[in-house]
Amino acid sequence: MSDPRTEAARRRTFAIISHPDAGKTTLTEKFLLYGGALGKEAGTVKAREGRRSATSDWMDLEQQRGISITSAALQFEYRDCVVNLLDTPGHRDFSEDTYRVLAAADAAVMVLDAAKGIEPQTLKLFEVCREREIPFLTFINKWDRPGKAPLQLLDEIEETLVVEPTPVTWPVGIPGDFRGVIHQQTGEYTRFERTARGSTMAPEEVVSAEQAAIDEGEWWTAAQEEAELLRELGRVVDTKTFLACESTPVFFGSALTNFGVRFLLDGVIDLVPPPSAQLLADGSRRPVDAPFAGLVFKVQAGMDKAHRDRIAFVRVCSGVFERGEMLTTGRSGRQFSSKYAQTLFGQDRDTVDEAFPGDILGLVNANDLRAGDSVYAEEECQFPPLPAFAPEHFMRARVKDTSKFKQFRKGIAQLDEEGAVQVLRDADLGDQAPILAAVGQLQFEVATHRLENEFGAPVELTATPYTIARRTDPESREALHQMQGVSVLAREDGTLLALFESRFWMDRVVGDHPELTLERMVAEGGLN
Ligand code: G4P
Repeated sequence: MSDPRTEAARRRTFAIISHPDAGKTTLTEKFLLYGGALGKEAGTVKAREGRRSATSDWMDLEQQRGISITSAALQFEYRDCVVNLLDTPGHRDFSEDTYRVLAAADAAVMVLDAAKGIEPQTLKLFEVCREREIPFLTFINKWDRPGKAPLQLLDEIEETLVVEPTPVTWPVGIPGDFRGVIHQQTGEYTRFERTARGSTMAPEEVVSAEQAAIDEGEWWTAAQEEAELLRELGRVVDTKTFLACESTPVFFGSALTNFGVRFLLDGVIDLVPPPSAQLLADGSRRPVDAPFAGLVFKVQAGMDKAHRDRIAFVRVCSGVFERGEMLTTGRSGRQFSSKYAQTLFGQDRDTVDEAFPGDILGLVNANDLRAGDSVYAEEECQFPPLPAFAPEHFMRARVKDTSKFKQFRKGIAQLDEEGAVQVLRDADLGDQAPILAAVGQLQFEVATHRLENEFGAPVELTATPYTIARRTDPESREALHQMQGVSVLAREDGTLLALFESRFWMDRVVGDHPELTLERMVAEGGLN
Protein backbone atom coordinates (compact mmCIF):
# COMPACT_ATOMS: atom_id res chain seq x y z
CA MET A 1 0.00 0.00 0.00
CA SER A 2 1.26 3.51 -0.80
CA ASP A 3 2.50 5.64 2.04
CA PRO A 4 0.02 8.46 2.83
CA ARG A 5 2.85 10.80 3.81
CA THR A 6 4.61 10.44 0.47
CA GLU A 7 1.35 10.76 -1.43
CA ALA A 8 0.24 13.79 0.62
CA ALA A 9 3.55 15.51 -0.08
CA ARG A 10 2.85 15.43 -3.81
CA ARG A 11 -0.75 16.69 -3.58
CA ARG A 12 -1.76 20.31 -4.16
CA THR A 13 -5.40 21.02 -3.33
CA PHE A 14 -6.73 24.49 -4.09
CA ALA A 15 -9.74 26.47 -5.28
CA ILE A 16 -10.03 29.36 -7.71
CA ILE A 17 -11.99 32.35 -6.48
CA SER A 18 -13.07 35.33 -8.54
CA HIS A 19 -15.79 37.78 -9.35
CA PRO A 20 -17.97 36.43 -12.19
CA ASP A 21 -16.43 37.03 -15.62
CA ALA A 22 -12.88 37.56 -14.35
CA GLY A 23 -11.90 34.36 -16.18
CA LYS A 24 -12.17 31.49 -13.70
CA THR A 25 -13.65 29.04 -16.21
CA THR A 26 -11.11 29.96 -18.87
CA LEU A 27 -8.24 29.61 -16.42
CA THR A 28 -9.54 26.25 -15.18
CA GLU A 29 -9.63 25.04 -18.74
CA LYS A 30 -6.09 26.26 -19.36
CA PHE A 31 -4.83 24.55 -16.22
CA LEU A 32 -6.23 21.34 -17.61
CA LEU A 33 -4.54 22.04 -20.94
CA TYR A 34 -1.16 22.55 -19.24
CA GLY A 35 -1.81 19.61 -16.96
CA GLY A 36 -2.32 17.41 -20.03
CA ALA A 37 -5.85 16.54 -18.91
CA LEU A 38 -7.50 17.90 -22.04
CA GLY A 39 -5.42 16.26 -24.69
CA LYS A 40 -3.75 18.86 -26.80
CA GLU A 41 -6.55 21.34 -27.25
CA ALA A 42 -8.56 23.49 -24.90
CA GLY A 43 -12.30 23.83 -25.37
CA THR A 44 -13.35 20.62 -23.68
CA VAL A 45 -14.63 22.20 -20.49
CA LYS A 46 -17.18 24.16 -22.48
CA ALA A 47 -18.07 21.03 -24.42
CA ARG A 48 -18.55 19.22 -21.14
CA GLU A 49 -20.84 21.97 -20.00
CA GLY A 50 -22.94 21.38 -23.06
CA ARG A 51 -23.22 17.72 -22.24
CA ARG A 52 -23.98 18.49 -18.65
CA SER A 53 -27.19 20.23 -19.63
CA ALA A 54 -28.64 16.83 -20.36
CA THR A 55 -27.99 15.51 -16.90
CA SER A 56 -28.55 18.17 -14.30
CA ASP A 57 -31.96 19.06 -12.99
CA TRP A 58 -31.29 22.70 -12.54
CA MET A 59 -28.95 23.07 -15.46
CA ASP A 60 -31.64 24.81 -17.48
CA LEU A 61 -31.82 27.39 -14.74
CA GLU A 62 -28.06 27.72 -14.82
CA GLN A 63 -28.13 28.22 -18.55
CA GLN A 64 -30.93 30.76 -18.46
CA ARG A 65 -29.03 32.81 -15.95
CA GLY A 66 -25.59 32.15 -17.40
CA ILE A 67 -24.23 31.00 -14.08
CA SER A 68 -22.62 27.95 -12.67
CA ILE A 69 -24.21 26.59 -9.52
CA THR A 70 -23.02 23.02 -9.39
CA SER A 71 -19.42 22.81 -8.46
CA ALA A 72 -17.08 19.93 -8.94
CA ALA A 73 -13.54 18.81 -8.39
CA LEU A 74 -10.94 18.26 -11.08
CA GLN A 75 -7.80 16.21 -10.70
CA PHE A 76 -4.77 16.17 -12.98
CA GLU A 77 -1.04 15.58 -12.78
CA TYR A 78 1.50 18.30 -13.31
CA ARG A 79 5.25 17.91 -12.91
CA ASP A 80 5.48 15.15 -10.32
CA CYS A 81 2.44 16.33 -8.40
CA VAL A 82 -1.27 15.51 -8.29
CA VAL A 83 -3.33 18.69 -8.50
CA ASN A 84 -6.84 18.77 -7.03
CA LEU A 85 -8.70 21.81 -8.28
CA LEU A 86 -11.91 22.56 -6.45
CA ASP A 87 -14.44 24.45 -8.49
CA THR A 88 -16.37 27.18 -6.71
CA PRO A 89 -19.62 28.69 -7.93
CA GLY A 90 -19.00 32.08 -9.49
CA HIS A 91 -22.23 33.76 -8.53
CA ARG A 92 -22.11 35.78 -5.36
CA ASP A 93 -25.38 34.33 -4.14
CA PHE A 94 -23.55 31.08 -3.68
CA SER A 95 -20.74 32.30 -1.53
CA GLU A 96 -21.94 30.04 1.25
CA ASP A 97 -21.23 27.11 -1.00
CA THR A 98 -17.84 28.56 -1.83
CA TYR A 99 -17.15 28.83 1.86
CA ARG A 100 -17.65 25.13 2.29
CA VAL A 101 -15.47 24.39 -0.71
CA LEU A 102 -12.71 26.52 0.77
CA ALA A 103 -12.89 24.42 3.93
CA ALA A 104 -11.54 21.58 1.79
CA ALA A 105 -8.77 23.62 0.12
CA ASP A 106 -5.20 24.22 1.25
CA ALA A 107 -4.93 27.42 -0.77
CA ALA A 108 -6.76 29.59 -3.29
CA VAL A 109 -5.96 31.35 -6.54
CA MET A 110 -7.67 34.72 -6.72
CA VAL A 111 -8.31 35.79 -10.31
CA LEU A 112 -8.61 39.51 -11.01
CA ASP A 113 -9.64 41.17 -14.26
CA ALA A 114 -6.80 43.61 -15.07
CA ALA A 115 -9.29 46.27 -16.11
CA LYS A 116 -11.44 45.95 -13.01
CA GLY A 117 -9.08 45.13 -10.16
CA ILE A 118 -10.72 44.04 -6.91
CA GLU A 119 -14.46 43.58 -7.41
CA PRO A 120 -17.09 43.11 -4.65
CA GLN A 121 -17.29 39.35 -4.92
CA THR A 122 -13.51 39.03 -4.90
CA LEU A 123 -13.45 40.97 -1.68
CA LYS A 124 -16.10 38.85 -0.05
CA LEU A 125 -14.35 35.63 -1.01
CA PHE A 126 -11.03 37.00 0.07
CA GLU A 127 -12.52 37.67 3.50
CA VAL A 128 -13.44 34.02 3.68
CA CYS A 129 -9.82 33.11 2.90
CA ARG A 130 -8.53 35.42 5.58
CA GLU A 131 -11.04 34.16 8.12
CA ARG A 132 -9.95 30.59 7.47
CA GLU A 133 -6.30 31.54 7.04
CA ILE A 134 -6.18 30.10 3.55
CA PRO A 135 -3.11 31.41 1.73
CA PHE A 136 -3.78 32.67 -1.79
CA LEU A 137 -1.98 33.42 -5.02
CA THR A 138 -3.21 36.27 -7.22
CA PHE A 139 -3.52 35.97 -11.00
CA ILE A 140 -4.06 39.27 -12.79
CA ASN A 141 -5.89 38.14 -15.90
CA LYS A 142 -6.84 39.65 -19.27
CA TRP A 143 -3.52 41.41 -19.68
CA ASP A 144 -3.98 41.00 -23.43
CA ARG A 145 -6.41 43.89 -23.44
CA PRO A 146 -6.44 47.44 -22.05
CA GLY A 147 -6.52 47.56 -18.28
CA LYS A 148 -5.03 49.26 -15.25
CA ALA A 149 -1.27 49.81 -14.83
CA PRO A 150 0.44 46.95 -12.93
CA LEU A 151 1.69 49.16 -10.08
CA GLN A 152 -1.81 50.56 -9.68
CA LEU A 153 -3.17 47.03 -9.34
CA LEU A 154 -0.58 46.21 -6.69
CA ASP A 155 -1.62 49.33 -4.77
CA GLU A 156 -5.24 48.30 -5.01
CA ILE A 157 -4.49 44.84 -3.59
CA GLU A 158 -2.49 46.35 -0.78
CA GLU A 159 -5.00 49.04 0.13
CA THR A 160 -8.21 47.08 -0.28
CA LEU A 161 -7.16 43.71 1.09
CA VAL A 162 -4.41 44.91 3.42
CA VAL A 163 -2.18 42.16 2.09
CA GLU A 164 1.27 42.71 0.65
CA PRO A 165 1.44 41.85 -3.06
CA THR A 166 4.72 40.17 -3.99
CA PRO A 167 5.06 39.74 -7.76
CA VAL A 168 6.46 36.45 -9.04
CA THR A 169 6.22 37.66 -12.62
CA TRP A 170 6.18 41.22 -13.97
CA PRO A 171 4.56 42.08 -17.31
CA VAL A 172 6.46 43.48 -20.26
CA GLY A 173 4.37 45.52 -22.69
CA ILE A 174 1.30 47.53 -21.91
CA PRO A 175 -2.11 46.10 -21.09
CA GLY A 176 -3.48 45.45 -24.56
CA ASP A 177 -0.06 44.70 -26.03
CA PHE A 178 1.29 42.01 -23.79
CA ARG A 179 4.68 40.63 -24.82
CA GLY A 180 5.94 38.52 -21.94
CA VAL A 181 6.98 38.49 -18.30
CA ILE A 182 10.10 38.95 -16.23
CA HIS A 183 10.47 36.24 -13.62
CA GLN A 184 11.35 38.11 -10.45
CA GLN A 185 13.48 35.39 -8.92
CA THR A 186 15.66 34.65 -11.93
CA GLY A 187 15.39 38.04 -13.66
CA GLU A 188 14.80 36.10 -16.89
CA TYR A 189 12.54 37.51 -19.58
CA THR A 190 10.13 35.04 -21.21
CA ARG A 191 8.34 36.13 -24.35
CA PHE A 192 5.09 34.48 -25.38
CA GLU A 193 3.55 33.88 -28.73
CA ARG A 194 -0.14 33.76 -29.50
CA THR A 195 -1.72 30.63 -30.88
CA ALA A 196 -4.99 30.37 -32.76
CA ARG A 197 -7.85 30.92 -30.26
CA GLY A 198 -5.43 30.09 -27.45
CA SER A 199 -6.39 26.46 -27.85
CA THR A 200 -2.84 25.15 -27.60
CA MET A 201 -0.04 26.06 -25.20
CA ALA A 202 1.56 29.45 -25.89
CA PRO A 203 5.10 28.98 -27.25
CA GLU A 204 7.66 30.58 -24.95
CA GLU A 205 11.13 31.93 -25.60
CA VAL A 206 13.65 33.11 -23.04
CA VAL A 207 15.11 36.34 -24.42
CA SER A 208 18.31 38.00 -23.20
CA ALA A 209 18.14 41.51 -21.73
CA GLU A 210 20.11 42.92 -24.71
CA GLN A 211 17.76 41.35 -27.21
CA ALA A 212 14.70 42.41 -25.19
CA ALA A 213 15.95 46.02 -25.21
CA ILE A 214 16.21 45.87 -29.00
CA ASP A 215 12.89 44.09 -29.57
CA GLU A 216 10.65 45.70 -26.96
CA GLY A 217 12.34 49.10 -26.65
CA GLU A 218 10.97 51.41 -23.97
CA TRP A 219 8.46 48.85 -22.72
CA TRP A 220 11.30 46.60 -21.76
CA THR A 221 13.17 49.45 -20.03
CA ALA A 222 10.07 50.52 -18.10
CA ALA A 223 9.19 46.96 -17.03
CA GLN A 224 12.74 46.20 -16.01
CA GLU A 225 12.98 49.37 -13.92
CA GLU A 226 9.74 48.58 -12.14
CA ALA A 227 10.71 44.96 -11.57
CA GLU A 228 14.03 46.03 -10.12
CA LEU A 229 12.45 48.65 -7.90
CA LEU A 230 10.05 46.06 -6.50
CA ARG A 231 12.94 43.72 -5.76
CA GLU A 232 14.84 46.53 -4.03
CA LEU A 233 11.77 47.32 -1.95
CA GLY A 234 11.75 43.71 -0.81
CA ARG A 235 8.51 42.94 -2.64
CA VAL A 236 9.54 39.36 -3.17
CA VAL A 237 7.75 36.14 -2.33
CA ASP A 238 7.98 35.31 1.33
CA THR A 239 6.67 31.90 2.30
CA LYS A 240 6.08 32.75 5.93
CA THR A 241 3.85 35.78 5.30
CA PHE A 242 2.17 34.01 2.35
CA LEU A 243 1.15 31.11 4.58
CA ALA A 244 -0.09 33.56 7.22
CA CYS A 245 -2.28 35.25 4.58
CA GLU A 246 -0.29 38.48 4.98
CA SER A 247 1.23 38.52 1.51
CA THR A 248 0.13 37.19 -1.86
CA PRO A 249 2.40 36.10 -4.72
CA VAL A 250 1.18 37.89 -7.87
CA PHE A 251 1.26 36.57 -11.44
CA PHE A 252 0.35 38.49 -14.59
CA GLY A 253 -1.16 36.78 -17.58
CA SER A 254 -3.96 36.13 -19.98
CA ALA A 255 -5.92 32.93 -19.62
CA LEU A 256 -7.40 33.45 -23.07
CA THR A 257 -4.05 33.49 -24.88
CA ASN A 258 -2.37 31.21 -22.31
CA PHE A 259 0.27 33.84 -21.51
CA GLY A 260 1.61 33.30 -18.03
CA VAL A 261 -0.53 30.25 -17.28
CA ARG A 262 2.44 27.91 -16.96
CA PHE A 263 4.16 30.25 -14.49
CA LEU A 264 1.02 30.30 -12.39
CA LEU A 265 0.71 26.53 -12.42
CA ASP A 266 4.38 26.24 -11.44
CA GLY A 267 3.59 28.70 -8.65
CA VAL A 268 0.78 26.42 -7.46
CA ILE A 269 3.19 23.49 -7.27
CA ASP A 270 6.01 25.48 -5.64
CA LEU A 271 3.98 27.59 -3.22
CA VAL A 272 0.70 25.88 -2.29
CA PRO A 273 1.35 23.87 0.86
CA PRO A 274 0.77 20.12 0.57
CA PRO A 275 -1.88 18.61 2.86
CA SER A 276 -0.72 18.68 6.45
CA ALA A 277 -2.06 17.68 9.86
CA GLN A 278 -5.68 18.91 10.04
CA LEU A 279 -7.09 20.76 12.99
CA LEU A 280 -9.68 18.83 14.99
CA ALA A 281 -12.58 20.16 17.05
CA ASP A 282 -10.70 19.46 20.29
CA GLY A 283 -7.80 21.67 19.16
CA SER A 284 -5.42 18.80 18.42
CA ARG A 285 -4.22 17.93 14.93
CA ARG A 286 -4.61 14.71 12.99
CA PRO A 287 -1.41 13.76 11.15
CA VAL A 288 -1.74 12.80 7.48
CA ASP A 289 -0.53 9.29 8.23
CA ALA A 290 -3.24 8.61 10.86
CA PRO A 291 -5.91 6.09 9.75
CA PHE A 292 -8.37 7.29 7.10
CA ALA A 293 -10.52 10.30 7.96
CA GLY A 294 -12.27 12.79 5.71
CA LEU A 295 -14.37 15.94 5.90
CA VAL A 296 -17.71 16.17 4.09
CA PHE A 297 -17.66 19.70 2.71
CA LYS A 298 -20.62 19.58 0.38
CA VAL A 299 -23.64 17.43 -0.33
CA GLN A 300 -25.46 17.69 -3.59
CA ALA A 301 -28.46 15.83 -4.93
CA GLY A 302 -29.97 15.69 -8.37
CA MET A 303 -26.66 16.17 -10.16
CA ASP A 304 -27.58 13.41 -12.50
CA LYS A 305 -31.19 13.15 -13.60
CA ALA A 306 -30.72 9.57 -14.73
CA HIS A 307 -29.71 8.40 -11.27
CA ARG A 308 -31.40 10.89 -8.94
CA ASP A 309 -28.62 10.26 -6.52
CA ARG A 310 -27.05 12.25 -3.82
CA ILE A 311 -23.33 12.80 -3.59
CA ALA A 312 -21.37 13.74 -0.51
CA PHE A 313 -18.07 15.36 -1.43
CA VAL A 314 -15.34 14.34 0.98
CA ARG A 315 -11.85 15.70 1.29
CA VAL A 316 -9.44 13.04 2.44
CA CYS A 317 -7.63 14.48 5.47
CA SER A 318 -5.60 11.53 6.70
CA GLY A 319 -4.65 8.01 5.75
CA VAL A 320 -5.48 6.03 2.66
CA PHE A 321 -9.06 5.67 1.52
CA GLU A 322 -9.84 2.21 0.19
CA ARG A 323 -13.12 1.62 -1.56
CA GLY A 324 -15.35 -0.95 0.07
CA GLU A 325 -14.16 -0.20 3.58
CA MET A 326 -16.85 0.41 6.22
CA LEU A 327 -16.82 4.03 7.35
CA THR A 328 -18.39 5.75 10.33
CA THR A 329 -20.15 9.12 10.35
CA GLY A 330 -18.82 11.11 13.30
CA ARG A 331 -22.08 12.91 14.06
CA SER A 332 -24.38 9.91 14.19
CA GLY A 333 -21.93 7.10 14.83
CA ARG A 334 -23.64 5.20 11.99
CA GLN A 335 -21.67 2.93 9.73
CA PHE A 336 -21.95 2.78 5.95
CA SER A 337 -20.19 1.06 3.08
CA SER A 338 -17.94 3.08 0.80
CA LYS A 339 -18.55 0.70 -2.09
CA TYR A 340 -19.91 3.49 -4.27
CA ALA A 341 -17.02 5.91 -4.00
CA GLN A 342 -16.22 7.90 -7.10
CA THR A 343 -13.87 10.52 -8.33
CA LEU A 344 -15.48 13.32 -10.19
CA PHE A 345 -13.98 15.08 -13.11
CA GLY A 346 -16.37 17.90 -13.70
CA GLN A 347 -19.57 15.99 -14.21
CA ASP A 348 -17.89 12.80 -15.31
CA ARG A 349 -17.53 10.07 -12.74
CA ASP A 350 -15.23 7.16 -12.27
CA THR A 351 -15.02 4.59 -9.55
CA VAL A 352 -12.14 5.30 -7.22
CA ASP A 353 -10.32 2.49 -5.43
CA GLU A 354 -7.77 4.48 -3.46
CA ALA A 355 -7.40 8.10 -2.45
CA PHE A 356 -4.89 10.06 -0.40
CA PRO A 357 -4.81 13.21 1.75
CA GLY A 358 -5.85 16.20 -0.34
CA ASP A 359 -7.95 14.13 -2.78
CA ILE A 360 -11.68 14.62 -3.22
CA LEU A 361 -14.09 11.69 -3.20
CA GLY A 362 -17.73 11.56 -4.12
CA LEU A 363 -19.66 9.16 -1.89
CA VAL A 364 -22.84 8.22 -3.69
CA ASN A 365 -26.06 7.70 -1.76
CA ALA A 366 -24.42 7.97 1.63
CA ASN A 367 -27.70 9.46 2.74
CA ASP A 368 -26.78 10.09 6.32
CA LEU A 369 -23.98 12.51 5.47
CA ARG A 370 -24.23 16.28 5.84
CA ALA A 371 -21.83 19.10 5.08
CA GLY A 372 -19.44 19.45 8.01
CA ASP A 373 -19.53 15.76 8.95
CA SER A 374 -16.38 13.81 9.70
CA VAL A 375 -16.08 10.29 8.34
CA TYR A 376 -13.46 7.81 9.45
CA ALA A 377 -12.45 4.20 9.14
CA GLU A 378 -10.96 3.21 12.48
CA GLU A 379 -9.89 5.94 14.77
CA GLU A 380 -12.67 8.35 15.71
CA CYS A 381 -12.21 12.04 14.96
CA GLN A 382 -14.23 15.23 14.71
CA PHE A 383 -13.26 18.18 12.52
CA PRO A 384 -14.34 21.67 13.61
CA PRO A 385 -17.84 22.62 12.40
CA LEU A 386 -18.12 24.54 9.14
CA PRO A 387 -19.04 28.09 10.08
CA ALA A 388 -22.28 29.31 8.50
CA PHE A 389 -22.61 32.50 6.53
CA ALA A 390 -24.96 35.12 7.91
CA PRO A 391 -28.13 34.96 5.79
CA GLU A 392 -29.34 38.30 4.44
CA HIS A 393 -32.60 37.29 2.77
CA PHE A 394 -35.55 35.63 4.45
CA MET A 395 -38.69 34.27 2.74
CA ARG A 396 -41.55 32.23 4.12
CA ALA A 397 -42.29 29.08 2.12
CA ARG A 398 -45.70 27.40 1.82
CA VAL A 399 -46.72 24.54 -0.40
CA LYS A 400 -49.25 25.68 -3.02
CA ASP A 401 -51.23 22.44 -3.02
CA THR A 402 -51.68 21.06 0.48
CA SER A 403 -52.02 17.50 -0.85
CA LYS A 404 -48.33 17.80 -1.72
CA PHE A 405 -47.28 18.57 1.83
CA LYS A 406 -45.37 15.33 2.25
CA GLN A 407 -43.27 16.04 -0.84
CA PHE A 408 -42.79 19.61 0.34
CA ARG A 409 -41.49 18.46 3.70
CA LYS A 410 -39.14 15.97 2.11
CA GLY A 411 -37.81 18.53 -0.34
CA ILE A 412 -37.27 21.15 2.35
CA ALA A 413 -35.42 18.61 4.49
CA GLN A 414 -33.22 17.72 1.54
CA LEU A 415 -32.37 21.35 0.71
CA ASP A 416 -31.61 21.93 4.37
CA GLU A 417 -29.29 18.93 4.59
CA GLU A 418 -27.44 20.03 1.49
CA GLY A 419 -27.23 23.56 2.83
CA ALA A 420 -28.77 24.82 -0.42
CA VAL A 421 -30.76 27.21 1.79
CA GLN A 422 -30.98 27.46 5.55
CA VAL A 423 -34.34 26.31 6.87
CA LEU A 424 -35.64 28.07 9.98
CA ARG A 425 -38.71 27.08 11.93
CA ASP A 426 -40.65 28.86 14.59
CA ALA A 427 -42.42 26.91 17.27
CA ASP A 428 -45.87 28.24 16.22
CA LEU A 429 -45.73 27.46 12.51
CA GLY A 430 -43.35 24.50 12.52
CA ASP A 431 -43.14 22.56 9.29
CA GLN A 432 -46.13 24.25 7.69
CA ALA A 433 -44.41 27.47 6.78
CA PRO A 434 -40.68 27.47 7.44
CA ILE A 435 -38.57 30.50 6.70
CA LEU A 436 -35.92 29.98 4.09
CA ALA A 437 -32.81 32.01 4.79
CA ALA A 438 -30.24 32.70 2.10
CA VAL A 439 -27.11 34.64 1.41
CA GLY A 440 -28.40 35.59 -2.04
CA GLN A 441 -31.77 35.74 -3.81
CA LEU A 442 -30.72 33.23 -6.41
CA GLN A 443 -30.69 30.52 -3.77
CA PHE A 444 -34.49 30.95 -3.53
CA GLU A 445 -34.86 30.52 -7.25
CA VAL A 446 -32.90 27.29 -7.13
CA ALA A 447 -34.88 26.11 -4.09
CA THR A 448 -38.31 26.75 -5.65
CA HIS A 449 -37.20 25.27 -8.94
CA ARG A 450 -35.99 22.12 -7.24
CA LEU A 451 -39.00 21.78 -4.95
CA GLU A 452 -41.25 21.89 -7.97
CA ASN A 453 -39.22 19.80 -10.42
CA GLU A 454 -37.39 17.37 -8.21
CA PHE A 455 -39.98 16.85 -5.47
CA GLY A 456 -43.25 17.74 -7.22
CA ALA A 457 -44.13 20.37 -4.62
CA PRO A 458 -44.70 23.84 -6.10
CA VAL A 459 -44.25 26.49 -3.42
CA GLU A 460 -45.22 30.03 -2.78
CA LEU A 461 -42.65 32.32 -1.20
CA THR A 462 -43.73 35.39 0.69
CA ALA A 463 -41.59 38.24 1.91
CA THR A 464 -40.77 38.60 5.60
CA PRO A 465 -39.68 41.80 7.36
CA TYR A 466 -36.30 40.36 8.43
CA THR A 467 -33.01 41.55 7.01
CA ILE A 468 -30.30 40.35 9.35
CA ALA A 469 -29.62 37.49 11.75
CA ARG A 470 -27.37 36.67 14.69
CA ARG A 471 -26.74 33.40 16.43
CA THR A 472 -28.25 33.20 19.90
CA ASP A 473 -28.85 30.59 22.63
CA PRO A 474 -31.74 29.18 24.69
CA GLU A 475 -30.91 31.47 27.66
CA SER A 476 -31.41 34.61 25.56
CA ARG A 477 -34.42 33.27 23.68
CA GLU A 478 -37.15 34.33 26.08
CA ALA A 479 -35.95 37.92 26.43
CA LEU A 480 -35.61 38.27 22.65
CA HIS A 481 -39.02 36.72 22.14
CA GLN A 482 -40.62 39.49 24.18
CA MET A 483 -39.13 42.21 22.00
CA GLN A 484 -40.72 43.90 19.02
CA GLY A 485 -39.10 43.41 15.63
CA VAL A 486 -37.20 40.27 16.64
CA SER A 487 -37.97 36.59 16.09
CA VAL A 488 -36.04 33.61 17.35
CA LEU A 489 -36.10 30.65 15.01
CA ALA A 490 -34.41 27.27 15.06
CA ARG A 491 -32.41 25.38 12.48
CA GLU A 492 -32.76 21.62 12.18
CA ASP A 493 -29.46 21.14 14.04
CA GLY A 494 -30.85 23.12 16.98
CA THR A 495 -28.91 26.33 16.33
CA LEU A 496 -31.02 29.33 17.28
CA LEU A 497 -31.04 32.47 15.14
CA ALA A 498 -32.42 35.82 16.17
CA LEU A 499 -33.88 37.61 13.15
CA PHE A 500 -34.08 41.40 13.14
CA GLU A 501 -36.03 43.75 10.94
CA SER A 502 -33.13 46.16 10.58
CA ARG A 503 -29.47 46.45 11.36
CA PHE A 504 -30.23 49.62 13.28
CA TRP A 505 -32.61 47.72 15.53
CA MET A 506 -30.18 44.88 15.99
CA ASP A 507 -27.33 47.22 16.93
CA ARG A 508 -29.61 48.81 19.47
CA VAL A 509 -30.57 45.50 21.05
CA VAL A 510 -26.92 44.44 21.11
CA GLY A 511 -25.94 47.76 22.74
CA ASP A 512 -28.78 47.81 25.28
CA HIS A 513 -28.55 44.15 26.24
CA PRO A 514 -24.94 43.04 26.57
CA GLU A 515 -26.19 40.10 28.67
CA LEU A 516 -27.82 38.51 25.61
CA THR A 517 -25.94 36.17 23.31
CA LEU A 518 -25.97 37.62 19.79
CA GLU A 519 -22.99 36.27 17.92
CA ARG A 520 -21.87 37.44 14.53
CA MET A 521 -21.61 34.93 11.73
CA VAL A 522 -19.14 34.97 8.88
CA ALA A 523 -19.38 37.83 6.36
CA GLU A 524 -22.33 39.39 8.10
CA GLY A 525 -23.72 42.19 6.00
CA GLY A 526 -20.99 41.38 3.48
CA LEU A 527 -20.39 43.61 0.53
CA ASN A 528 -22.77 43.17 -2.34
P1 G4P B 1 -15.80 33.28 -15.10
O1 G4P B 1 -15.73 31.80 -15.12
O2 G4P B 1 -14.88 33.89 -14.08
O3 G4P B 1 -17.17 33.85 -15.01
O4 G4P B 1 -15.22 33.83 -16.49
P2 G4P B 1 -15.01 33.12 -17.89
O5 G4P B 1 -13.79 32.28 -17.87
O6 G4P B 1 -16.27 32.53 -18.36
O7 G4P B 1 -14.63 34.40 -18.74
C1 G4P B 1 -15.53 35.48 -18.91
C2 G4P B 1 -15.25 36.16 -20.24
O8 G4P B 1 -13.91 36.70 -20.22
C3 G4P B 1 -15.29 35.20 -21.44
O9 G4P B 1 -15.74 35.95 -22.55
C4 G4P B 1 -13.83 34.85 -21.64
O10 G4P B 1 -13.54 34.45 -22.96
C5 G4P B 1 -13.15 36.16 -21.30
N1 G4P B 1 -11.76 35.99 -20.86
C6 G4P B 1 -11.27 35.11 -19.95
N2 G4P B 1 -9.94 35.25 -19.83
C7 G4P B 1 -9.59 36.23 -20.69
C8 G4P B 1 -8.33 36.84 -21.04
O11 G4P B 1 -7.27 36.48 -20.55
N3 G4P B 1 -8.38 37.82 -21.96
C9 G4P B 1 -9.53 38.24 -22.55
N4 G4P B 1 -9.47 39.22 -23.43
N5 G4P B 1 -10.73 37.69 -22.25
C10 G4P B 1 -10.74 36.70 -21.34
P3 G4P B 1 -17.20 35.83 -23.10
O12 G4P B 1 -17.26 36.72 -24.29
O13 G4P B 1 -18.16 36.09 -22.00
O14 G4P B 1 -17.33 34.32 -23.46
P4 G4P B 1 -16.73 33.51 -24.68
O15 G4P B 1 -17.66 33.78 -25.79
O16 G4P B 1 -15.35 34.02 -24.96
O17 G4P B 1 -16.75 32.11 -24.22
